Amino acid sequence: MSAWQARQLAEQTGRTFVITGSNSGVGLEAARDLVGRGGHVVLAVRDVAAGEKARAEILRAGRGSAEVRRLDLADLDSVATFAKELSEQLAADGRLLNALVCNAGVMGGPLLFTTQGFERQMGTNHLGHAALVTALWPALHEAGGRVVVVSSIAARGGRLSTVSTRDDLVAPAVYDTQKVYANTKQANLLFAQELHRRVVAAGSPVSVVAAHPGVSWTNLFPRQLREQGKGYLVMPLRLVHPLAFQSATAGALPTLRALDSSTPSGAFVGPKLLNGWRGRPELLGVFSTGADPAVAARLWELTEDVLGTPLPL
Ligand SMILES: NC(=O)c1ccc[n+]([C@@H]2O[C@H](COP(=O)([O-])OP(=O)(O)OC[C@H]3O[C@@H](n4cnc5c(N)ncnc54)[C@H](OP(=O)(O)O)[C@@H]3O)[C@@H](O)[C@H]2O)c1
Repeated sequence: MSAWQARQLAEQTGRTFVITGSNSGVGLEAARDLVGRGGHVVLAVRDVAAGEKARAEILRAGRGSAEVRRLDLADLDSVATFAKELSEQLAADGRLLNALVCNAGVMGGPLLFTTQGFERQMGTNHLGHAALVTALWPALHEAGGRVVVVSSIAARGGRLSTVSTRDDLVAPAVYDTQKVYANTKQANLLFAQELHRRVVAAGSPVSVVAAHPGVSWTNLFPRQLREQGKGYLVMPLRLVHPLAFQSATAGALPTLRALDSSTPSGAFVGPKLLNGWRGRPELLGVFSTGADPAVAARLWELTEDVLGTPLPL
């Protein structure tokens, strides 16, 4: 079978997408593409000024439309407010929510906590998104929409297991920043797989696809270096980045393929070349760390416990 090409993705006129963290990197490029196909993208960002700048840039090339809404995944109150206001606006406009892309993420940095006191990387990358999916579930259900969860090849190093505890998730005893990031990306993959299994069991019209962007030149690595007091490495890295990183545009292709209706629920999309660092978006086998239903069920249970609310289904 020939490789998937972005041109295979349909026109998106009349369709509405939410992309978290779409003022930058992979999310920005996915939003740009969808607006270019006539879609309407809700830029769900924590910095509205940065979102407006991205919106202006996207609209220059696009035929579709975009709006900016504030969303801080590291604050569950912000997640709830975002979902409530968006759902009300969709209902008032008679629009459906065709897809939610759980894209935003932080990698590494010092030990920091979310507003509710959860370790920041897990709080943002997994817990905030799990809360967002839950709050937007009625809108997704009504539309027969799609959830796309952006994971990473780092998920292969995740160590979540059937005996993981609440503290492993939100208050790790030893803070190894890269291991915590790997756990968050493993959690993304486990969550997507478990949600897919539950959707199938419930006969829900929602579909769920996971993706990973390979290793792409975005703000992820520069931010990590700055937060670790190594900002002086950003400029040299910027100069040599084409050697190691693919572009953010290439990094957005797995997300776009995940949104393509020809990609089935439960799929995992990403590049395969160089151990997953780069290449065209392919349908992959789920990494072993993300494939065990028992580990996924444990993560589901812990997530509900931490959020204090049932997840959908
Ligand atoms: N780049 C790679 O090589 C790579 C590899 C594997 C996986 N990924 C994944 O790809 C996704 C996108 O990352 P990227 O590479 O495009 O990095 P990026 O350019 O740094 O974009 C990350 C986005 O997430 C947003 N964000 C961070 N914390 C947030 C919060 N609390 N609430 C709302 N938004 C928040 C950022 O907002 P601000 O601009 O305001 O900080 C930014 O818009 C992430 O999930 C990342 O883990 C990336």
